[in-house]
Amino acid sequence: MNNAELYHRYNIITKRDALQCLEEYEKRIKWKKGEITVIDIGSGDGSVTMNILKKIIPNNCEKLVGCDISEAMVQYANDHYANDHTSFMVLDIERDLPNELRGNFDHAFSFYVLNWIQHQEVAFRNIHDLLSEGGECFLVFLGHMPMFDVYRTLSRSTRWKLWMKDVERFISPYHDCQEPEKKVKQLMTSIGFTSVEVECLQKTFVYPNLDALKGTVKAVIPFQIPKDLDEDFLLDYIKVLQDMHIIDNASSNVDGSIKATFNYRLIVAKGRK
Ligand SMILES: C[S@@+](CC[C@H](N)C(=O)[O-])C[C@H]1O[C@@H](n2cnc3c(N)ncnc32)[C@H](O)[C@@H]1O
Repeated sequence: MNNAELYHRYNIITKRDALQCLEEYEKRIKWKKGEITVIDIGSGDGSVTMNILKKIIPNNCEKLVGCDISEAMVQYANDHYANDHTSFMVLDIERDLPNELRGNFDHAFSFYVLNWIQHQEVAFRNIHDLLSEGGECFLVFLGHMPMFDVYRTLSRSTRWKLWMKDVERFISPYHDCQEPEKKVKQLMTSIGFTSVEVECLQKTFVYPNLDALKGTVKAVIPFQIPKDLDEDFLLDYIKVLQDMHIIDNASSNVDGSIKATFNYRLIVAKGRK
């Protein structure tokens, strides 16, 4: 998922969920007093950081930093959203942290990123290390999501298996987990977070047309499918969704209107250092 322009056009589900989660949990965030610094981990194109997260950050925020593993995303975010108080930098939350970032942030946020991370303990420990004493994190990420089942199905097909050998790397570590909130709480507590609260929310998102659905799938696809096979891959993806009854065939029309209903689970985790 390196195409920031495409991601910017189609990240409708992450925008909706970031907004809903912040609205729901905003009152429980204990903002530190005095000048504060905030980091958004896996900030992507920067639109959630600036158009959603920034709106709830109090005025005593002196510095807002977005970080992402993708240089293309960071470049896009800096080009479109950087200002005197806000900047975006490359950082892999699954690797060693640069020393100068340790203890540097009073609040850490992350939306739709931790489900990409296979080494959960490393990422959570890094988040803990990024925080100052008394600092808080608020993390939103995917648990079970039918899109991951589509990946698995396609990865078994003769046509696509060549490009999807590493499919499990891109499936949320909590996709097959019955009680992910317990697992995450245990992990955060063992790392040293206090006041840990983890909830697993049942969510539904309905894609109203084929363009929005295909755009989202294309924007987040992690596999190196050759460009000239892009459209075929999307068509097969849609076929699997029909087989899974996620796309309601009865309401599909030639004009591209469809009803694709995704029922999925979102994990919301909060903790203090
Ligand atoms: C689905 S996007 C979410 C972007 C943004 N938070 C939003 O809500 O729109 C996931 C982002 O996580 C980034 N990402 C994936 N693995 C990462 C890692 N190990 N460290 C930092 N960012 C990572 C991706 O590059 C991508 O921009």
